[in-house]
Amino acid sequence: MVAPDKEPLFIGLMSGTSMDGIDAVLVSFPHNDTPTIWADASLTMPAELRRTFLALNQPGPNELEQASLAGVQLATLYAKACMRLLQHVDLTPGDITAIGAHGQTVRHNPAQGYTIQVNAPAALAEMTGIDVIADFRSRDIAAGGQGAPLVPAFHRALFQVDYPRAVLNLGGIANLTILDAPRDLTGFDTGPGNVLLDMWCQEKTGQPYDDEGQWAASGRCDLELLNAFIEGEPWFGLPPPKSSGRDLFNRQWLQRGLDSVPNPKRSDQDVQATLQSLTAVTVAEALERHAPHVNEVLVCGGGALNVGLMAELESQSGRLVIPTSHLDVPVHLVEAMAFAWLAREHVNGRAAGVPSVTGARAPRILGCRYPA
Ligand SMILES: Nc1ncnc2c1ncn2[C@@H]1O[C@H](COP(=O)(O)OP(=O)(O)O)[C@@H](O)[C@H]1O
Ligand SMILES: [Mg+2]
Repeated sequence: MVAPDKEPLFIGLMSGTSMDGIDAVLVSFPHNDTPTIWADASLTMPAELRRTFLALNQPGPNELEQASLAGVQLATLYAKACMRLLQHVDLTPGDITAIGAHGQTVRHNPAQGYTIQVNAPAALAEMTGIDVIADFRSRDIAAGGQGAPLVPAFHRALFQVDYPRAVLNLGGIANLTILDAPRDLTGFDTGPGNVLLDMWCQEKTGQPYDDEGQWAASGRCDLELLNAFIEGEPWFGLPPPKSSGRDLFNRQWLQRGLDSVPNPKRSDQDVQATLQSLTAVTVAEALERHAPHVNEVLVCGGGALNVGLMAELESQSGRLVIPTSHLDVPVHLVEAMAFAWLAREHVNGRAAGVPSVTGARAPRILGCRYPA
């Protein structure tokens, strides 16, 4: 496929909390905000790099050097994905206006004024010969916001119609966007998406994720445990704006819940089924509380491929739950496209921060530019 020579081209690079890999997409925006996808590539995160990033989520020895080295390795992976995109369409780096590179979140603590996305944008600019926009979250936090989620503005650009809709991104953490104009755009994290499901599945079966939720389907939700997870965590009850990460929803969090409801009869599959219900119920409760009249929920992110979770979301929420792929938008590319879009907003000097979502005192231009 040959990309157009008129429209500016942007690359979006996303590596989310799941740490499964990176998703890369090359897009133009010929109709204002609606992207045309020219190429995409997904690369698995090498096991060693994943281990390093997982370790960096917790305090540990020699963090600064570990993070710096991991940043360069991630940038190398990003560069490889960019080269793959260019090969697909037979273009050169000079044809691309900018890359939006999210980096790998290893800490997220807006209340204390910081979030850390490990990245090496200077190295990426050098390796690709393309301008890089990175560090999208810190300015919003500096302006008093959560720095997250940043995708609702793009969800609105892409999916807003003349009736209310919600967009749910099921990544490691789940975030919900509510499109209900003329009401202000709202969006917030609802809690764990895949992160606990992946963690438990990996530990007990050796598989990185529960393919289509089949393992969970062989167990039964432990309602007492589900209740303990929800009632025992004040974060679920907080009003938006709110965001979260592995800082909160980690192995220790899971263990505290398990220990609070001892049950020798509970199998590993039962725990998986309960964690699947936790994701579905917390999303359903957020919809009930913040979007009671929204009937249609579009779902993107890798969790949309978990048919068991999708079915449970539909039954728990009593709403129509539709993967974005039904609208010809691949579920695994929405976030990557969002970072291409955010790069475009930066290049055009537009403030892409949305105070009604993040709680910032004003919209700010997001990201920092590393010229090629
Ligand atoms: N076939 C599948 N069945 C169940 N879950 C899946 C499937 N494919 C992907 N996933 C889930 O999607 C996750 C990746 O989703 P992604 O949107 O990339 O999240 P993140 O943005 O956090 O990286 C995987 O870790 C896994 O939990
Ligand atoms: Mg991912």
